[in-house]
Amino acid sequence: MIAAVVLTLLAAQTPQQFFDRKVAPILTRRCLPCHNNELDNAGLSFQKPATVQRVLVPGEPDQSRLIETLKHEGQVQMPPGIPLPKKEIEVLRQWVKQGAVFGTPLR
Ligand code: HEC
Repeated sequence: MIAAVVLTLLAAQTPQQFFDRKVAPILTRRCLPCHNNELDNAGLSFQKPATVQRVLVPGEPDQSRLIETLKHEGQVQMPPGIPLPKKEIEVLRQWVKQGAVFGTPLR
């Protein structure tokens, strides 16, 4: 599974394409309902990348609050309720590791 993610990354694609193909579907389905321009819980809207910068350390998933909340180990657990499948967490980790580059704005 992790090998599959790595292979995906090795395939020629820009960080923007990786965002559009792999990251955007996860954020749209799992996070956008509560973190959008109308409902921006904790001030975060995934439609406005600038608002998400404070919970990201580009290149450093282990220092990124966003990734920490996905582990469901601390007080703030995202998404609330059932944690994301490991595969999706791994995609978001890779995204942050690559620099947390956004692509096409989410709608
Ligand atoms: C059901 C609504 C809901 C969903 C879905 C949701 N969030 Fe949240 N999120 C919240 C609320 C409410 C808060 C503020 C709660 C708090 O601070 O305890 C929050 C806060 C956060 C924070 C800020 C934590 C902090 O300490 O500053 C992060 C990061 C975050 N969410 C990321 C995500 C990500 C990534 C997803 C998708 C995987 C997601 N959220 C999905 C409702 C949601």
